[in-house]
Amino acid sequence: NPVLKHRNLRPLFHYSPQENWMNDPNGMVYYDGVYHLFYQYYPDGTNWGPMHWAHTVSTDLFHWEDKGIALYPDDMGYIFSGSAVVDKNNTAGFKSNDNDPLVAIFTHHKSNNGLQTQSLAYSTDKGETWTKYEGNPVLENPGIVDFRDPKVIWHEPTQKWIMTLAVLDHVSFYSSPNLIDWHLESEFGAGRGAQGGVWECPDLFPLQVEGSDEIKWVLLVSINPGGPNGGSATQYFIGSFDGTTFTSENNEIKWVDNGIDNYAGVTWSNISEKDGRRIFLGWMSNWIYAGATPTEGWRGEMTIPLELKLIQKNDQYLLAFEAVAELNNLMSDDDVLIIDTPQKSIELENNSIVEYGSYWAEIEMETENINDFEIKTGNGLESIFIRFDKVNSTLSIDRSECGISDFDQLFKKEIKCDIQPSEGKIVLDLIVDQSSLEILINGGEKVMTVLFFSEYKYNSFSISGSSNNSFIKYFKINSIQKSVN
Ligand code: FRU
Repeated sequence: NPVLKHRNLRPLFHYSPQENWMNDPNGMVYYDGVYHLFYQYYPDGTNWGPMHWAHTVSTDLFHWEDKGIALYPDDMGYIFSGSAVVDKNNTAGFKSNDNDPLVAIFTHHKSNNGLQTQSLAYSTDKGETWTKYEGNPVLENPGIVDFRDPKVIWHEPTQKWIMTLAVLDHVSFYSSPNLIDWHLESEFGAGRGAQGGVWECPDLFPLQVEGSDEIKWVLLVSINPGGPNGGSATQYFIGSFDGTTFTSENNEIKWVDNGIDNYAGVTWSNISEKDGRRIFLGWMSNWIYAGATPTEGWRGEMTIPLELKLIQKNDQYLLAFEAVAELNNLMSDDDVLIIDTPQKSIELENNSIVEYGSYWAEIEMETENINDFEIKTGNGLESIFIRFDKVNSTLSIDRSECGISDFDQLFKKEIKCDIQPSEGKIVLDLIVDQSSLEILINGGEKVMTVLFFSEYKYNSFSISGSSNNSFIKYFKINSIQKSVN
């Protein structure tokens, strides 16, 4: 079949390492016009190994310039996940020139006994070079195996640094005047939220409620395993934090992503300096099969950067996730198809935008008079399916026939999310980038992220349903091109 060209699995506009293994995003900090991203990296192979922090930078969150390895393992251990801050007041004393010091706070993981401690590294040249603090570690291990992934923020009201640390089945909050001396303030989480696995990679930050002056505190916690569709996933709590204690107002478990491939995500520090946005980035994989995915020479990619909004709905607070506005700069005005008269179905065959493999599809569907719909994209031999079932209020993704799926049983399982139409409608934003699909449901109130792999390019896209109604009110598909800017 001449249409079946071989697929390149590497994403165009999602970050992926040129070669070898990547997992969690680390040390995300905005400084002097530059977004810094570090990540868990193993430079000697495509599987997890002794961890390093690799470093990459961007001014628009989509075009990245790799800076090589910032932190290498040493005799205190591998360099596990952590965060970075701008130490404007020079509280740690690392300042040596006009630049505000950047300070990374990370976990040292001893490979022989698994002992984890927290350490510092700093840069006084805007992140170009990094020096480990000679007094490491700054936080000793109290005798708990899982004690890692420090996320540090400056807490303005108490004029202290707050470190949120994952400790087995809860988080611990530590405070410090100088990033060096840490004092345990409190613990949160034992018996709370999802507890199907170890807690990892927390993040704590304030966020303003949309349309009001109210500020709530958001706590993100990754959990492995125990996710809603199996394997690893990230949950969140909404509540208050007074510098000592976090109080959750959740009355149910809330997931950052109801798909299966979004893990260890945290937010950029110091963006408030720029425009007050809270921007999230996750590792787009799942620990169940992360080491088995069929890419060659490299493994691992990040989600798109997502802007977090805090909304109020039915007396509940919810996070809503939006693609950062910068993504619009990659959309080509020439390569777009809009259908804005109501349709019973959409059939795109041999479509050049679909075949290009990186696009944003926006679909608005009226659900009052239908029971189901199915979105299918594929190439005749290989396809993935997105299905809505109104009776069971679910949106599901089936990748069992996507092409390359035999490497893991969980990968072939149907992925399900509870969804409710909003005002009689379902609005889906499908962001596709070669081997990934991110679905933002009803303005990002729910997210489903999945990887998919195929032998050949997909070139067809269809929407259909069992009813005879013209339920598809609006459809737009727009290619996303890395070079457009
Ligand atoms: C999460 C995690 C972290 C740890 C890192 C090791 O994916 O397990 O808890 O610091 O990965 O690479």
